[in-house]
Amino acid sequence: MGKKAAASTNKNKEKRQARKLEQRRIADGMSYVTSANKLTDLASLCKELMIYRNNDLEVDMYIQKVGELEKNVLQWAIDLTERNMKKLYETCAWGWNKERKVEEMTDDNAWYLIAKSKSGSLLAFSHFRFDMDFGEPVLYCYEVQVEAEGRRRGLGQRVLNVLERLARATRMRYVRLTALTHNPAASAFFRACGYSLDETSPPKEEAAHYEILSKATDGEPAGDHCSLSDGMRAVHVAAAES
Ligand SMILES: CC(C)(COP(=O)(O)OP(=O)(O)OC[C@H]1O[C@@H](n2cnc3c(N)ncnc32)[C@H](O)[C@@H]1OP(=O)(O)O)[C@@H](O)C(=O)NCCC(=O)NCCS
Repeated sequence: MGKKAAASTNKNKEKRQARKLEQRRIADGMSYVTSANKLTDLASLCKELMIYRNNDLEVDMYIQKVGELEKNVLQWAIDLTERNMKKLYETCAWGWNKERKVEEMTDDNAWYLIAKSKSGSLLAFSHFRFDMDFGEPVLYCYEVQVEAEGRRRGLGQRVLNVLERLARATRMRYVRLTALTHNPAASAFFRACGYSLDETSPPKEEAAHYEILSKATDGEPAGDHCSLSDGMRAVHVAAAES
């Protein structure tokens, strides 16, 4: 075989190997997502984070699939989302469509983290899902919503800490989320908690009203403190470990 022909054969071989590896990486990711969605006791993966105390605030958290949530808890989550987000949605290209939001929040794959004070009041929740996103297994945070009286007491940060721990334990590569760019409180919050612009975020000229933020799961173990320096970017998690 001539030199040129040999080089071309090698290149083709490399391409085939790269394609195989990519297929394997995606298949692994899908199997992690399937396994995560089959778990019945997610809270056991982050037990010590499920109780939160800050001065006079004492909060218990629990995690359930949407179908297991009590009806009044789901209704409260929908109402809180409307109270917190309606105006923000109305002032951007998306607009507020309650029916569509309820449909999203009641999707069979929706998981809920609920935070309740010791006295019984519902204070915060997150709707999240394990999913493939742009070919990668991610924990997608659809909502993090805190009641006005529960804010600036570290509760939102703790909710994210729980999601980060779950993502790591289930081999998701990122906690990823969509944030409205005209919601400065949320932007400051997510960035203070180590989230940064994700590579899948659309260019500003295409979509100025929202951005995709993420935090990789391969950094330091999720602690209790926000860290401005912890906005780690993508590095390969061992999808091919197995
Ligand atoms: C955004 C939100 C989830 C933050 O929850 P929270 O429990 O108040 O946040 P924390 O107390 O954990 O804040 C952690 C850090 O984030 C930053 N932060 C939080 N809220 C902020 C705000 N309004 N302005 C500026 N920085 C803020 C701060 O650095 C804060 O630390 P500090 O209080 O020690 O300064 C809450 O304000 C909320 O539910 N807002 C309405 C709904 C919403 O916008 N959700 C997010 C989009 S899905």
